[in-house]
Amino acid sequence: MARILITSALPYINGVKHLGNLAGSMLPADVYARAMRLMGHEVLYICATDEHGTPAELAAAKEGLKVEDYCDKMHEVQAQSGADFKLSFDYFGRSSAPSNHKLTQHFAEVLEANGLIDERVSKQVYSHADGRYLPDRYVEGTCPNCGYEAARGDQCDNCDRLLDPVDLIDPYSAVSGSKDVEIRDTNHLYLKQSDMADRLRAWIDSSTEWPSLAKSISYKWLDEGLQDRAITRDLDWGIPVMKDGKPRPGFENKVFYVWFDAPIEYIAATQDWAEANNENWERWWRKDKGAEDVTYVEFMGKDNVAFHALSFPTTIIGSGEPWTLVDKIKAFNWVTWYDGKFSTSNNRGIFMDQAIELAPSDYWRWVLTANAPEGSDAPFTLEDFQGRVNSDLANVLGNFVNRITKYTVGKFDGKLPDGGEWGEAEDWIVDELATRLPALMEYYEKMQFRKAAAETRAIWAAGNEYLTQAAPWTHYKTNVDQAAIGTRVGLNLVALFGILAQPIIPDAAAKILDAIGVPEKNRTWKFDREDWKACVSDILDALPRGMEIKAPDVLFTKIEDDQVAAWVERFGGGEG
Ligand code: 2FM
Ligand code: ZN
Repeated sequence: MARILITSALPYINGVKHLGNLAGSMLPADVYARAMRLMGHEVLYICATDEHGTPAELAAAKEGLKVEDYCDKMHEVQAQSGADFKLSFDYFGRSSAPSNHKLTQHFAEVLEANGLIDERVSKQVYSHADGRYLPDRYVEGTCPNCGYEAARGDQCDNCDRLLDPVDLIDPYSAVSGSKDVEIRDTNHLYLKQSDMADRLRAWIDSSTEWPSLAKSISYKWLDEGLQDRAITRDLDWGIPVMKDGKPRPGFENKVFYVWFDAPIEYIAATQDWAEANNENWERWWRKDKGAEDVTYVEFMGKDNVAFHALSFPTTIIGSGEPWTLVDKIKAFNWVTWYDGKFSTSNNRGIFMDQAIELAPSDYWRWVLTANAPEGSDAPFTLEDFQGRVNSDLANVLGNFVNRITKYTVGKFDGKLPDGGEWGEAEDWIVDELATRLPALMEYYEKMQFRKAAAETRAIWAAGNEYLTQAAPWTHYKTNVDQAAIGTRVGLNLVALFGILAQPIIPDAAAKILDAIGVPEKNRTWKFDREDWKACVSDILDALPRGMEIKAPDVLFTKIEDDQVAAWVERFGGGEG
């Protein structure tokens, strides 16, 4: 049994997240956490809201709320969305929590003591009309890279290039719209990432278990030459910059940069989890206190890789303290809304609160996992959503479960029938599962979620093929025993399909397993991997003969064309 620490990138507090955000970090992390728990590993899955920085301040101002109040409100909304989508966080924290203030100060202190933080004069945009500096998204202007006229100070929404606000052409204040701005000198703290470049490269070279996307992005940054990064900002809301327990002189109106404190919240949220549950956080995060055997896996979109593969490790390694360092980074490309972008600022796509009103969470979980943006960007379309739900869930899985359970109720009094001879059809399904089950386990272990979903579906399809071959309904007329074995194996397949479906579609899986009466303790994935054939034969005869089963209520309702048409009308479909 391993101990696996899982974090998914912290969603920004500003607004409900869209399906692209869900699919690129929280959902796959949840699917992985569930699969690893089923395999019997000890798992801790941590997430939190990312509450600092200009996005939070601007969104609060737009709603006319104090930023603290806005964050309180939106944290609840996001926690509810997580619950609606059955995200099985062990803890969903907040980066504004006191624990994160304390830990962020601690890291800043030790990094400075170790010579990895220094104070430098830097150029910032100052607005006369607003009487303040304008960091990151507080400035907008024309992108120096692509000429887009509404580029934000930290990043251009059109070409995705990361920007420095002082490089914008014709900058103006996003607060007041004023163009009366100038570039002024002011001091900021810098994290000396360049000093760490060689150590980071050696560490990444030796990290053989990273999936390729995270590795290639990290090397790209290293090859371009790692830049030092300013880790403070001219803002009120955030973690204050202290020195020797007092506000740091010259930094009274500054706070730490959101990207400095956000990953530290992974640790701080674990501390809060431990506090709330009488647990021990150090055995997850301190190698000197029991965490030496922890495998740490991080999930994120590709734009987050530099921060997790280079900046946060600079903090961790640079501290010189025995903190847990990430072992595997699983990064994702983008889910696109048709062939354009999902966008929070432009309200394009479907957001989590809307999605849950349209269809049950399992439907979204299935489609977003089966179409995970792993090898490349992956378009989400409502037509594809309909197709996969109707075919994979309703036809392939739903019909199978329905057919065989109803048949048992109708012909065998709702009881798992005894009798019958093992034959060719049974040999066939054993062979099939003896190759497919180990493949499925491996896909999960390697975090290949598209393949895991495809293999799950292939296993369901094999069940249908088995029923066609065994044809209990045909045999029933002439040889009830022969019908009994087909029905019995069919019901054991239903149980197996429910057990295998748990990470991706937990609600439907529970319905199936409840109807078949599989006790909780028998829903795990503790398979005997030494001899898959023997293991599969046992699985296909696992349910006690004579036990009573029920047909579950409708598992999946097909999505009709007129529903899709109405959704396309409402959300804009292909116009993105
Ligand atoms: O890109 C984002 O949505 C960020 N809020 C992710 C932060 S991840 C972390 F390090 F906290
Ligand atoms: Zn641009």
